[in-house]
Amino acid sequence: MVCIRQANVHDLLQMQTTNLWCLPENYAMKYYFYHLLSWPQLLWVAEDFDGKIVGYVLAKMEEDETLPKHGHITSLSVLRTHRKRGIATALMRRSQQEMHKVFEAEYVSLHVRKSNRAAFHLYSVTLQYVVNDVEKGYYADGEDAYDMRCYFGDKANLNKPDEAPVEAMKQLSVEASSS
Ligand SMILES: CC(C)(COP(=O)(O)OP(=O)(O)OC[C@H]1O[C@@H](n2cnc3c(N)ncnc32)[C@H](O)[C@@H]1OP(=O)(O)O)[C@@H](O)C(=O)NCCC(=O)NCCS
Repeated sequence: MVCIRQANVHDLLQMQTTNLWCLPENYAMKYYFYHLLSWPQLLWVAEDFDGKIVGYVLAKMEEDETLPKHGHITSLSVLRTHRKRGIATALMRRSQQEMHKVFEAEYVSLHVRKSNRAAFHLYSVTLQYVVNDVEKGYYADGEDAYDMRCYFGDKANLNKPDEAPVEAMKQLSVEASSS
């Protein structure tokens, strides 16, 4: 059985290891400490029955005061062995709740690779994020990113389902079937 709980300092090494297994975007340990010391409410882990961390969400509050208060998902991943069981959805929902409740965030933002079908489904369909922008060549290998947002509370009606995610999913299907 997997338990979703707030992360603590003893989890950081396993979070970093999970990140290394799952994503090409990796961070120095001091960046994990920075998140935990600044916004401990926003870091959540999925712990298996034997104490192993099988998923995490690393999130922060953005410090740009020219924009409305908002959070940002720095990194999310779930080990391959534990995917498609709702773990990422649960981690994201817990962190988002705290962003809104504790830090009064109006919305949360994130970046996702255009080709990342699993994550794009999670964000656009399951969690109702909307595409705010496309950032050309955002990733180190030149791939574009969707800049996505999910609004909270009174502003949640801004998460209007529009055609963009549907069109993007269609495009991913076409690309996948032609490769
Ligand atoms: C993306 C990721 C975090 C999803 O984790 P997960 O625990 O499997 O996700 P969930 O079980 O909560 O699934 C959420 C939704 O996404 C869907 N989904 C999950 N994997 C999918 C896939 N490979 N293809 C299509 N849809 C997928 C689920 O069916 C579910 O949809 P539903 O709510 O409509 O039923 C996981 O695949 C992962 O760690 N990938 C590598 C790291 C990564 O890409 N991180 C995100 C970077 S932006």
